[in-house]
Amino acid sequence: MEIQKEKPDSVRDLFSTIAGRYQVVNHLLSGGLDFYWRAVAVRLIRPWKPSRLLDVATGSGDLASAIGKNFPGCRVIGADFCRPMLEVARRNGLAELVEANGMNLPFPDSTFDAVTAAFGLRNMASWQSGLSEMARVLKPGGHLLILDFSLPTLPVIRPLYRFYLHRILPIIAGLATGRADAYEYLGGSIELFPSGKAMTSLIDSCGFREAKAHPLTLGTVSVYTATRG
Ligand SMILES: C[S@@+](CC[C@H](N)C(=O)[O-])C[C@H]1O[C@@H](n2cnc3c(N)ncnc32)[C@H](O)[C@@H]1O
Repeated sequence: MEIQKEKPDSVRDLFSTIAGRYQVVNHLLSGGLDFYWRAVAVRLIRPWKPSRLLDVATGSGDLASAIGKNFPGCRVIGADFCRPMLEVARRNGLAELVEANGMNLPFPDSTFDAVTAAFGLRNMASWQSGLSEMARVLKPGGHLLILDFSLPTLPVIRPLYRFYLHRILPIIAGLATGRADAYEYLGGSIELFPSGKAMTSLIDSCGFREAKAHPLTLGTVSVYTATRG
């Protein structure tokens, strides 16, 4: 059974209102660690040598841009259902952008060598539908990379991180964006989102095999990789 989450329309509206400040606030709240997380993602993608890659929930296009810069021979397409976020991605230099829901992608089966999603899958109304759709548009043997928040497993770190997430972060983000509620939503969505073994099992149940978790930064963020079965 799936846990009840935000409705897609309210998620889209929420990102529409913060789009202009999204990147700056990201760098601020992560202390610049988001650059490192994307660098790890790029390092994991490198051996796959993709020539056509889809970045789902591309938002401001940070991961798609990093991939494009590192793999000049790769055609990178960004998809997102929030137009203001896609406008930010366009200003950031991404040329191939598609307005689309990650749970209903406008691409034929077996189109891509790799599919990525950074901080996007968590926001989808159904993680299963999002992952199954990613599997559908991947070629057999194609690669998946999910980068997203997770909860630290260390007993000392976990309560400290939760305090930061639920008490400190909404205040800082509220001052920066005027939308503290958007960042209260962030904390709630991280609490609901599966991590570690629960996440690799979910990925494997949606048309993938060999899902692996790569925890980063004390487990506050994880990269998951898998191969389309
Ligand atoms: C936290 S931002 C992540 C943006 C970017 N990938 C990054 O790493 O910074 C989440 C993005 O997911 C998009 N999103 C959420 N649910 C979506 C869905 N069902 N289909 C397409 N995009 C979605 C939002 O519009 C938003 O741009």
